[in-house]
Amino acid sequence: MTHETILILDFGSQYTQLIARRIREANVYSEIVPYNLSWEEIEARNPKGIILSGGPQSVSDSNSPHPDSNLYNFPGPLLGICYGMQLLAHHFGGVVAPSNYREYGRAPLQKVQKSLLLEGLPQTTDVWMSHGDRIEQIPNNFKVIAESDTAPGAMQHLAKKIYGLQFHPEVVHTPLGKEILSNFLFPICGCQGNWSMKSFVEETIKKISSQIGDGKAVCGLSGGVDSTIAALLVSRAIGNRLTCVFVDNGLLRKNEFTEVLNTFQKELNLNVLGVNAQQRFLEHLQGVEDPELKRKIIGEQFIRVFEEEAKKLGKIEYLVQGTLYPDVIESVSVKGPSAVIKTHHNVGGLPEKMSLNLVEPLRELFKDEVRRVGTEISAPEELIHRQPFPGPGLAVRILGEVNEKRLKILREADKIVEEEIKNAGLYVSIWQSFAVLLPIKTVGVMGDGRTYENVIAIRAVHSLDGMTADWVELPYELLKIISNRIVNQVQGVNRVVYDISSKPPSTIEWE
Ligand code: XMP
Repeated sequence: MTHETILILDFGSQYTQLIARRIREANVYSEIVPYNLSWEEIEARNPKGIILSGGPQSVSDSNSPHPDSNLYNFPGPLLGICYGMQLLAHHFGGVVAPSNYREYGRAPLQKVQKSLLLEGLPQTTDVWMSHGDRIEQIPNNFKVIAESDTAPGAMQHLAKKIYGLQFHPEVVHTPLGKEILSNFLFPICGCQGNWSMKSFVEETIKKISSQIGDGKAVCGLSGGVDSTIAALLVSRAIGNRLTCVFVDNGLLRKNEFTEVLNTFQKELNLNVLGVNAQQRFLEHLQGVEDPELKRKIIGEQFIRVFEEEAKKLGKIEYLVQGTLYPDVIESVSVKGPSAVIKTHHNVGGLPEKMSLNLVEPLRELFKDEVRRVGTEISAPEELIHRQPFPGPGLAVRILGEVNEKRLKILREADKIVEEEIKNAGLYVSIWQSFAVLLPIKTVGVMGDGRTYENVIAIRAVHSLDGMTADWVELPYELLKIISNRIVNQVQGVNRVVYDISSKPPSTIEWE
């Protein structure tokens, strides 16, 4: 590869991907690799600089992760973050010991010596700490360049370009973290910063071409941004050797199947099979109220339908999935806190069952970056800005039994929410906004008569990646319009409530 690369060795921190993201934001290409990648492989990537990520372990534990020891002779710049800094301290002869108390959260950092890494920062700045061990004594030939109240906050080698940060510059809680990383990238590593989303797209298409070779791939489309963008990238790499399958599970929104299928086939020129499997899903869901059981049934049926369709296509070796970073359940290298976030985005079980190899072109990206990829490849604006929609569809928004009658109620209410949120110009800035059909009935009065009908809850949240979320303070006027329209236009609903819970402790979906 011709572009300049910063390599990130992953020691399992939950923030490793954020380091990569910050570097990308500075227009420098970065690649995350397992902490134990061999020195030959590291060299082959010709990095301008190497970052050692944080990680959950103690350097002194017998089973703690250590890199190929040739790394320490790397002539270019090295930056250790948290565990990475402790590794450097440990290797070069310093003392790392368990601290009496964990330093976790925001802490003031004082600069104590001049250093290129902290150039331009004020004397004192807030940083985000998250560590149990601390460096008792830095190695010979190193100097402390900043201190927190309890430990060396940053250090640097006296002669070589080796740096350590005890805190996390990659998180937003370190407000000047970007400046610190920029100091590392530009004056220290000498990067130019000429990488862009365009380069990401080009690189990714090349990578996919070489991964798939002249093989064939299949992709399950959900109608959402992630799977569509993943499919578009793969189709750019292998053309019609990619077949997409779009299943109507009967749990989609109003007119969604026809509209989305149309976009795929006519606007995006994807090779798509539309499969009507409504009946099958609804039959299996009959009488089922338990949320987990619903998900399980939907997942299983999806796999069956998908498998049946894929079989008709002959020999296929690859499965394309729109997995994003927040969906990644295990760190590439060590089991650490970057493990276990969420599994439900992937069609679990499929790759093994059908012995398919996974192609996941978006695995290192966050949602907003996927949207930028979409813009880069000229995907339709409407698609790029679609709010996320869960795989099990309306089934997790119909509390209790899912049936045609209840689906119809929810579809009508959902449409009104979508229209009004769009009319108010809020659709793009809100992560998700939707209606939920509750499993209770309440008494109302309409005209002169008493009614006993369903309740619709409205949910609208702001979020960056779905992992945490805040409810949106929708204008009362808008809530009023939505409520009036739903009660007046949706048969079977006589009450509308607004969900004012954040995640955690609630989740975004109600089931
Ligand atoms: P929760 O409800 O867990 O949702 O706070 C977080 C984000 O994930 C979406 N979601 C799903 N997406 N399959 C999916 O593809 C699922 O089973 C699923 N469940 C939740 C949800 O819409 C939100 O964006």
